[in-house]
Parts: sequence; structure tokens; C-alpha cells
Amino acid sequence: MEGMRRVQKAGIARQVGVSNHSLRQWKHAEQVLGEPILSNQVLFNLVRRKPLRNLIPFAASNDRIVIAYSPLAQGLLSGNYNPANPLGGFRRRNPLNPLASAVNLARATPLIETLREIGSTHGVTPAQVALSWVLSHPNTVAIPGASSVAQVTQNAEAAELTLAEDEIIRLGDIAESLQLKGGIAGAVGALRR
Ligand SMILES: NC(=O)c1ccc[n+]([C@@H]2O[C@H](COP(=O)([O-])OP(=O)(O)OC[C@H]3O[C@@H](n4cnc5c(N)ncnc54)[C@H](OP(=O)(O)O)[C@@H]3O)[C@@H](O)[C@H]2O)c1
Repeated sequence: MEGMRRVQKAGIARQVGVSNHSLRQWKHAEQVLGEPILSNQVLFNLVRRKPLRNLIPFAASNDRIVIAYSPLAQGLLSGNYNPANPLGGFRRRNPLNPLASAVNLARATPLIETLREIGSTHGVTPAQVALSWVLSHPNTVAIPGASSVAQVTQNAEAAELTLAEDEIIRLGDIAESLQLKGGIAGAVGALRR
């Protein structure tokens, strides 16, 4: 933060952001910088909701921003994957993604089906509903990854979608009830949710 202070004072950067900081670390970094730290980029999606506890409330009351990374749980909230068609490659082994486990992906079926159902009411995809749920929180933006131009377009369009209050609550309640666990993913997920 001392280096960042020099960068800021020299006018090279107007704002400073951090990533994967707890609220305590975020506030401590601000103390050292001597200025507000505008943003904290953290894991936040329907199955990883820990930022709701204190990061988002802090951002909302103090003009800060939470930047949600992996807002689609690395694509697993798109409805394109299921236990018979699991993720491949390194994403399948990500211990921070509870849905990377086939058992948890099967348990998440009610959530995926609800994303699909709400999506069909609005004429949008499950991924767009999952993104809109993230964006429904105050002072929260999302940085979804994409593997095609069509996904980039869809993800940008999700910012235009406004979910009804009861849809937002329903998604959160279903996500809360999933009881994802088992294996490393479940253990780490339980710690961080
Ligand atoms: N600060 C950190 O520690 C940190 C950690 C991790 C990630 N990040 C950042 O977060 C950003 C995104 O995270 P992420 O890529 O891990 O996860 P994500 O945004 O949750 O998932 C991205 C994946 O979802 C699928 N997808 C995207 N848009 C879709 C759509 N409209 N419809 C259907 N499927 C769609 C694509 O995979 P498929 O098409 O292959 O299914 C895409 O690669 C990146 O910029 C990354 O650098 C930061």
C-alpha cells in the first residue's frame, strides 16, 4: 500500500483496488494507504455468498464497490452442465468451486432449474439470471469470463435485466437450502460460504 500511495500521489492511478481481502484486511489496507480503497474483487455468486455477510454491506454504506469474480461459478450456473455432462479441465478440480464436485452439481439441480424457469419468464438464459442476481446487490458489479463473443454479448445484456424482488429472494433461499458438501470442494465451500 505504501507503493500504491506513491503511484496514486504521482497521478498514475486515481483509485486503488484490492482482491480477496476480508473486511478487516480491506480496512487495514485503507489505513496504510491513507485513502479509501474503492474496490475489492472477491468470489461471489449464488453458491458462494460470503460477501453478503459484511463486504457488500460495507461497500453499500461507504461508497465502495465489490467486484464479483466467477459470478457464474465458472460456467456451472449456466445450466449447460450436469453430472452426466460435467466440466472438464482444470475447472473441474477447482477446490473453491463447490459445483465442481459431481455430487454437489447434482444437489444444485433445484437451483439450476429455477434459473431456467425464471429465465424463460424473462426470455433470457439461466446464466443471465445468475448474473442479474449478483448485480441485484448494492454497489456490486460482476466480471464474468466468456468463451465466445456470443457469451460476452449475453453477459453484457444481463445488466439490462431486472429481476423481481420475489425472484431474487427465491433464488437466494434455494441456494441457501442446497447443503453442498463432501470432498475438498464441499469442505472449502462450507468454510467460505
Ligand atoms: N481475483 C481473483 O482471485 C480471481 C479469481 C478467479 C477469477 N477471477 C476473474 O474473474 C473473471 C471471471 O471468472 P471465471 O472465468 O473464473 O468464472 P465465471 O465468470 O463464473 O465463468 C466463466 C465461464 O462461464 C461460461 N459462460 C460465460 N458466459 C456464459 C453465458 N452467457 N452462457 C453460458 N455460459 C457462459 C464460460 O465457460 P464455458 O462456455 O466453457 O462453459 C466461461 O468461460 C475473470 O476475469 C478472472 O480473471 C479473479
